[in-house]
Amino acid sequence: MRDVAIIGVGMHRFGELWDMSLRDLFLDAALTAIEDAGVERVDAMVVGCMSSGLFTEQEHLASLCADVLGMGPIPSARVESACASGALAVRSAFLEVASGMHDVVLAAGVEKMTDVTGDLATAALASAADQDCEAFHGVTFPGLYAMIARAYMERYGASSEQLAAVAVKNHENGALNPNAHFRNRISIEAVLGSMMVADPLRVFDCSPVSDGAAAAILCPLDRARDIARKTPVRIAGVAAATDSLALYRRDDVTRLKAVEASAKAALAMAKRTPEDVSLAEVHDCFTIAEVCVTEEIGFFERGKGAEAAAANLTARGGRIPINASGGLKAKGHPVGATGVAQIIELVHQLRGEAGERQIRDARVGLAQNMGGSGGSSVVHVLERV
Ligand code: COA
Repeated sequence: MRDVAIIGVGMHRFGELWDMSLRDLFLDAALTAIEDAGVERVDAMVVGCMSSGLFTEQEHLASLCADVLGMGPIPSARVESACASGALAVRSAFLEVASGMHDVVLAAGVEKMTDVTGDLATAALASAADQDCEAFHGVTFPGLYAMIARAYMERYGASSEQLAAVAVKNHENGALNPNAHFRNRISIEAVLGSMMVADPLRVFDCSPVSDGAAAAILCPLDRARDIARKTPVRIAGVAAATDSLALYRRDDVTRLKAVEASAKAALAMAKRTPEDVSLAEVHDCFTIAEVCVTEEIGFFERGKGAEAAAANLTARGGRIPINASGGLKAKGHPVGATGVAQIIELVHQLRGEAGERQIRDARVGLAQNMGGSGGSSVVHVLERV
């Protein structure tokens, strides 16, 4: 396998973007990434999108994207793994470059979620749960994560205040990110006083329904310096893993075994340990998710993640900065775009271009992107070259 680098990135601001269509969002992010890389053409592309059909009635997305970008007849494929579709697109592009099949590959993620009503968006998202055993019975994603939160709180004695600390920290970071859906700071009291969505999760424990797109350009590391305008970032490790979709099929609902498996494999491929990681972007679709994920990766002992967040260990100046971008909670969660946007934050941080959010001496970044309630997970480990 060839070593692979990311040489360009671009994203459209996340938010409720009624003046932008699905294709406008993709095009904006892709052109920004192409410009950032300094290339004129790409040899192939992969698009991650969870459900353009249910959200916008548009399928056959990969060809549409190649066409609007003016890149036809290059090969273009769409990949789907619920909310992990974006990272899966980067992994697929990585494989195309690493295998030697193509040299310059565009990996994009896009989702346009706000053209349907809230009820329809919730139903579309629920299609990523087990239809027969969960969604058919009316369970939504806030409901599934509420069950995980309840079980976790019972077992480890974690409090709503500790979970709220995750949201407060991510809104604090999002306030510094011009691409974030929400740029307002919030307090623990505001989280605890916000509307209950699925007990114990309140509206400020949830990521929002967002529109957005993100893109990255990959090429072989040994050609990166010749091709790229900016410092390349190496993809040192990448791994994907799966778990049962339905919570009832798991031995322990507080565990996210796909996250553990993908993090372990990606770190092993990069020859790194959790202690080597300078910062991480992780899948905080709900506050409880960030807590469980940071434990599965190995940043904290099992049962200690909520306590660690409340003690500011995951803040920008903390022991392991988590979601310096604002995370899904504040940056927003256009599901198919999220995994690529996580990688973009790491690229900006590793290039030293993250402005007020910059983590000092960032050398190794980890991005963890999750599908559904943990039925899939993709982890990338990026390094400054
Ligand atoms: N965090 C903070 N504020 C939020 C928010 C969130 N998650 N969701 C909505 N808001 C704000 C809106 O900006 C709006 O503010 P405004 O009145 O100042 O404009 C207000 O709350 C009402 O927005 P609305 O869209 O009517 O909210 P809603 O009640 O329809 O939706 C949730 C709220 C929590 C149900 C929705 O955001 C949601 O479903 N989130 C989870 C998404 C999800 O499951 N993703 C997949 C994860 S696996």
